[in-house]
Amino acid sequence: MAESMKGLHRTCRCAEVTKEEIGKSVTLMGWVQKSRNKGGIIFVDLRDRSGIMQLIFETGEAGDARYIDAEGFAKAESLRSEFVIAVTGIVEERGGAANENLATGALEVRVNSIRILSEAETPPFPIEAASKTKEELRLKYRYLDLRRPDLTHNLIFRSNVARSIRNFLLDEGFLEIETPILNRSTPEGARDYLVPSRVHPGTFYALPQSPQLFKQILMCSGYDRYFQIAKCFRDEDLRADRQPEFTQIDMELSFVDVDDVIDVNERLIRKVFKENLGVDVPIPMQRMPWQEAMDRFGSDKPDLRFGMELTDVSDTVKDTEFVVFKSAIEAGGSVRGINVKGQAGMPRKKIDAWVEFAKGFGAKGLAYLAVQDDGTYKCSFAKFMTPEQLDALVAAMKGEKGDLLFFAADKNKVVWDVLGNLRCELAKELELYDKNELRFLWVTEFPLLEWDEEEGRFVAVHHPFTMPMDEDLQYLDSDPGRVRAKAYDCVLNGVELGGGSVRIHQGDVQEKMFEKLGISHEAAMEKFGFLLSAFKYGVPPHAGLAFGFDRMVMLMVGADNIREVIAFPKVKDASCLMSEAPNTVDEAQLDELGICLKKTEE
Ligand code: AMO
Ligand code: AMP
Repeated sequence: MAESMKGLHRTCRCAEVTKEEIGKSVTLMGWVQKSRNKGGIIFVDLRDRSGIMQLIFETGEAGDARYIDAEGFAKAESLRSEFVIAVTGIVEERGGAANENLATGALEVRVNSIRILSEAETPPFPIEAASKTKEELRLKYRYLDLRRPDLTHNLIFRSNVARSIRNFLLDEGFLEIETPILNRSTPEGARDYLVPSRVHPGTFYALPQSPQLFKQILMCSGYDRYFQIAKCFRDEDLRADRQPEFTQIDMELSFVDVDDVIDVNERLIRKVFKENLGVDVPIPMQRMPWQEAMDRFGSDKPDLRFGMELTDVSDTVKDTEFVVFKSAIEAGGSVRGINVKGQAGMPRKKIDAWVEFAKGFGAKGLAYLAVQDDGTYKCSFAKFMTPEQLDALVAAMKGEKGDLLFFAADKNKVVWDVLGNLRCELAKELELYDKNELRFLWVTEFPLLEWDEEEGRFVAVHHPFTMPMDEDLQYLDSDPGRVRAKAYDCVLNGVELGGGSVRIHQGDVQEKMFEKLGISHEAAMEKFGFLLSAFKYGVPPHAGLAFGFDRMVMLMVGADNIREVIAFPKVKDASCLMSEAPNTVDEAQLDELGICLKKTEE
């Protein structure tokens, strides 16, 4: 029978009991982690969100606060895992060996009174750290999963990080302002989540992919420095670092340029990492233009914790008879390679697996050359080259005995993608880096526009409001693909932590941008006319950035999936295994919205 809390007050949490309280009475409440009945004496581990305290139940002289009466002892005997109890007792130094794994390992509480506040069924999996239970089951019973100490730690940590960020930004003169969830669609490029309007049948709101337009409007309205811990929604394919709804640390500043935004955010990162991890992040952080990042690392979010940089060997191989290489170069692409030091002995099967890996990123193949210990080559394309040409290639790659060289030949975009991903995956498998190292980087000077083969037009790399670099404005008409943007991404250990840009605030530049994007004036007005109108009434130069908050916390706690730092995450098919969202709704609800569902075949 569940008892009430009447008259009882918790004095502190389990792990908050300190040595100073030895000999004093405390009242604790929480869940039974485990209990062991040793005959006349019962030991119980009591758990709450702070941690665990060992309880001891023993009968003895009536009136002695160190003992419990027979009725209480019987209750203690009936305890099972996950019962919720309240106990009052005396803090003591732990009798047996202290448990060094627990914050409160040197203490215990001798209970003199107990109430069972709630009984519990046996949970479907043990509530323990580093759970081996399948994630699917854990997510179905997320309320139990969230009791596990590692998730508890992550969520408390997340809350602390949010506090650091909020305090920093408020101190820096940012205002926390909320923007709407029910919106017109923002042009961020992913698919929208739509919400049907009941009042205006046939029309839809879009959930925000980010507060982009609203924060720019706030700048037009004079708010100067805005931030928001904002929920964003994007209907895109999920990955380890992607959820359909996620949280941004979103900000916008007026009267600033690239360096100002980077400066305030470097100090933000430094403070957040110091306060929550005790780590000193060196600032100013390294910066690297996009082109250099692509050429050296094949990625716009390079992981700088290890080398294995890409080498362009196009010039070295362009006159050989190897058609694969030659034709890629003739078609305007390139041949590039990476040097995997000391891996010449990699078995053929393993190499084949890497070839398959490369194909997953669009490679037509992956050529390799191993410089064996006797100086001869084991090479997948040896028959197409003379020994001198092979020597020249190995020299260009700085290949030494024992090295394994991989080459990709294709359009630059494919080559970068293949080798960039190969480089990271190889480094992970070969453990080429220190997992605890934090390597921050700003990638700058992104291209403004990118040619979209499918659509046959330029599309914005960031978004249509991103400002071209001053020195490149002159090419906007003659050579749009060459124009670089005042856009920047903050990268940590190969993960895009955040990104932003300086925005266009001049009407004529914005018009030209739309023209280049093939967006007519009418279409632009239809989509974001309210922003363009706002710009007509005095718009300050402004710029901003948004961090992926989930990603930031994920990297800080060393998790490899953002689900580990989100209380109620969704799985790959964007469903919630606990609440079973999304779900069907009543016919009546659909009627009210004027929605008639298409019959889909089972
Ligand atoms: P962007 O689209 O680059 O920029 O998003 C900013 C950051 O948000 C995080 N992020 C995600 N995190 C988890 N799941 C997702 N599906 C997801 N998508 C993005 C990333 C990313 O760097 N409005 C602009 C910012 C600006 O220009 O000020 C924007 O949203 O960490
Ligand atoms: P093949 O003559 O098709 O056997 O190719 C010889 C070698 O070149 C094999 O190792 C292929 O994997 C590799 N190869 C094929 N296409 C490419 C490509 N686009 N880039 C790099 N290597 C390739």
